[in-house]
Amino acid sequence: MRGRSSMLVDRRVLLGAASFAAITTILQPTRLFAQGSSPTRIGIIGSGNIGGTIGGLWVKKGHSVFFSSRHPDELKDMVAKLGSLAQAGTVEQAVAFGDVLFIAVPYGAIPQIGKDYSAAMKGKVMLDACNAVSSRDGAIADEVERNGIGVTTQKYFPGVRIVRAFNTMSYMVFAREANRPDPKLAIPIAGDDPQALQIAASLVRDAGFDPVTVGTLADARRFQRGQAGYGQQVTAAELKQKLSLP
Ligand SMILES: NC(=O)c1ccc[n+]([C@@H]2O[C@H](COP(=O)([O-])OP(=O)(O)OC[C@H]3O[C@@H](n4cnc5c(N)ncnc54)[C@H](OP(=O)(O)O)[C@@H]3O)[C@@H](O)[C@H]2O)c1
Repeated sequence: MRGRSSMLVDRRVLLGAASFAAITTILQPTRLFAQGSSPTRIGIIGSGNIGGTIGGLWVKKGHSVFFSSRHPDELKDMVAKLGSLAQAGTVEQAVAFGDVLFIAVPYGAIPQIGKDYSAAMKGKVMLDACNAVSSRDGAIADEVERNGIGVTTQKYFPGVRIVRAFNTMSYMVFAREANRPDPKLAIPIAGDDPQALQIAASLVRDAGFDPVTVGTLADARRFQRGQAGYGQQVTAAELKQKLSLP
């Protein structure tokens, strides 16, 4: 027969296990996000070449991805091929669905999307892959040249935790090089919010690449179109060397 002291010990162990479980549950989102290993709900705004490619890589990794378009019917075939973790709908639905958002639209659409949805996006992390091209996007490309692209995106999305990512190479390179054997292809990222940067880095890894944090949104200029970090198909060590990062 077991004594009272051993039953007390058992009870303490059980209570300890219960509070450990409770603490783990409370900490879970941050802890798992930081590791990038738990399924995340991702809303994609702009499901063309880049949004379709990167979103597809996240679906393959096990994330739930909501692809959006102003014409959601056109995405039916794409999501059917990706399977049950992929769905399609309106931009509004994608914004509501995503714990994390990914935007890949022509930069000229940024002011309108910011005006219509930044209130609903408030507090969410949004990875931004958009580039500004004068011939396509008009005057906003001058603003980007003047102020830098990270700072400009943030201006149109107040309260949204912007991280620049996946803007420096063609979607064809991303599709071809994702999950290659080490050393993986480096993806420069930049943002002002440390936790958002951590989440973005995890998602870059989950897409099959190696994240390299270049700095704040002001530093995102270093890998915007036409700058030294743009178009570099290199490893993380090589990118750090090119950009003189520690
Ligand atoms: N292509 C590349 O290899 C590449 C590489 C790096 C970065 N980028 C940058 O990533 C962005 C997207 O490029 P992409 O090649 O993926 O373009 P894309 O294939 O033309 O796709 C862009 C998508 O944005 C959506 N869109 C456009 N205006 C919108 C609006 N006002 N509201 C909501 N959705 C809107 C369009 O969907 P609906 O018309 O169906 O709504 C379209 O499917 C650009 O800024 C580009 O410079 C591209």
